[in-house]
Amino acid sequence: MRFFRCCVIAVCLLTVESVSAAGAEDVAANASSIFDRRIRPILQSKDPSSCTQCHFAAVELRDYILDNEAQTFASLKANGMIDVEHPDESKILRFIGRKPEKSDALIDRVRHQEYAAFRDWIRVAVREPKLLKASSSVDVGTKLPPEVIRHARRDRVLSSFVDNVWSEIGRCLNCHSPERNRDKIGRNGLTKEDVDGISWIVPRDPAGTLQKLLDGGNIDLEDPAGSPFLTKPAGLSEHKGGPKFFPGSPTYRNWLTFLTDFAAIKNGKYASANDLPQPQRELLLLSEQQLRITNLPDRFSGLALQVDLYVWDATSKQWSADRVATGFSRVNGKQQVWQNPILLTAQADSKQAEKLREHRLLPAGTYLAKFLVDYDRRTEKDPTYALSEKEFVAQVEIRGEWKPGYQPPRIVAFPVSR
Ligand code: HEC
Ligand code: HEC
Repeated sequence: MRFFRCCVIAVCLLTVESVSAAGAEDVAANASSIFDRRIRPILQSKDPSSCTQCHFAAVELRDYILDNEAQTFASLKANGMIDVEHPDESKILRFIGRKPEKSDALIDRVRHQEYAAFRDWIRVAVREPKLLKASSSVDVGTKLPPEVIRHARRDRVLSSFVDNVWSEIGRCLNCHSPERNRDKIGRNGLTKEDVDGISWIVPRDPAGTLQKLLDGGNIDLEDPAGSPFLTKPAGLSEHKGGPKFFPGSPTYRNWLTFLTDFAAIKNGKYASANDLPQPQRELLLLSEQQLRITNLPDRFSGLALQVDLYVWDATSKQWSADRVATGFSRVNGKQQVWQNPILLTAQADSKQAEKLREHRLLPAGTYLAKFLVDYDRRTEKDPTYALSEKEFVAQVEIRGEWKPGYQPPRIVAFPVSR
């Protein structure tokens, strides 16, 4: 399948002319009547403004409005939001005029109203000596630093969702995408309503999917680690689909990192640049290549096993410093096997990461597989625990081609200890 990367919001601008139809008659009215009828209600409204279409938090139009007209005018003027000489070019109009390339009719209507209200009010207000003379000591606008505004931007949040979560949505498609789960109707007592009820994936639309997960109560903003979206596939709460990945796996940690950050943004928890999480270093992408490990000793039964793959560099004649792929699961107790798709890894923002996004296959080559085993069951006690060299048990070299798909997987025998 083709994975989807959207998320860069192309910004278009409304212009004064394009909104001229709305409220044109108001130019004759005086400023305070426009302010009372059309601006103050924005301050008092509980509904989100058009800003939230691109800013998940940190920025709201009502932050630019005070209860008093003269104070609002003076404060906006003082911080450069109103251009007295060229009212139609005021910065506040530029902020309101921003719209995404793909917008939505309802929000566009809100935006037009906000824009026309501010435009009409500013046009009249800049001609009123009483307002021009007014002064204000109150600051308007967001108090948050640019780093926080940037971090809470919708395009940023969505690109993090795509990298951390959507990149593995292939594990859920068969049962949760309405395009793929029709055959579940009538099986195991599931009605069409049941199946529609769990169709939280909006095909090829990560933004729509995220919204649907939130609306359906599958993301818990108060307790992100307790979100059904994480606990069900991680086997921490009942899930008819069974466990899809385990606590302590790179997938679990990535999903939790996203959910925790998303909740902090939505709850307005970030106040300064220091509060923001560290930028992500390693990108993980689910591949279609499967790895099966056989010959596992009995003592690994039921334990979490992680495989990290390093590639041989013929030029420098050494193994790569960073792993190029990883896999994590528990050893199937009965059959003593471990089989999983591998996740390809790259440094975030590297050329290799871009390449992997286009083509998710590990090329033929020589690889070193390092096995880490969670003997002390730490990942079961702390799902964020990351296995490392401390848990190293063995390694083996792998060479040659590696075809995508379940059949046949790449089969590697666990090296017998000497
Ligand atoms: C179409 C998407 C979009 C909408 C809608 C939008 N913004 Fe923004 N905003 C951006 C982008 C992209 C940036 C960062 C790039 C930039 O600064 O030009 C930004 C940056 C900002 C900043 C910080 C940088 C600066 O220029 O001071 C503020 C403050 C801001 N927006 C306020 C608002 C307000 C207030 C609204 C609603 C009236 C709004 N934005 C609506 C996309 C949008
Ligand atoms: C083999 C089918 C199957 C697969 C694959 C599957 N699930 Fe499920 N999932 C179900 C079924 C059936 C339910 C409804 C019963 C339940 O809640 O356990 C469900 C319920 C859910 C729910 C609750 C939905 C709701 O609105 O009530 C979430 C969230 C969820 N799964 C997440 C996931 C995630 C994330 C993945 C992929 C990593 C996944 N599932 C993979 C079968 C599956």
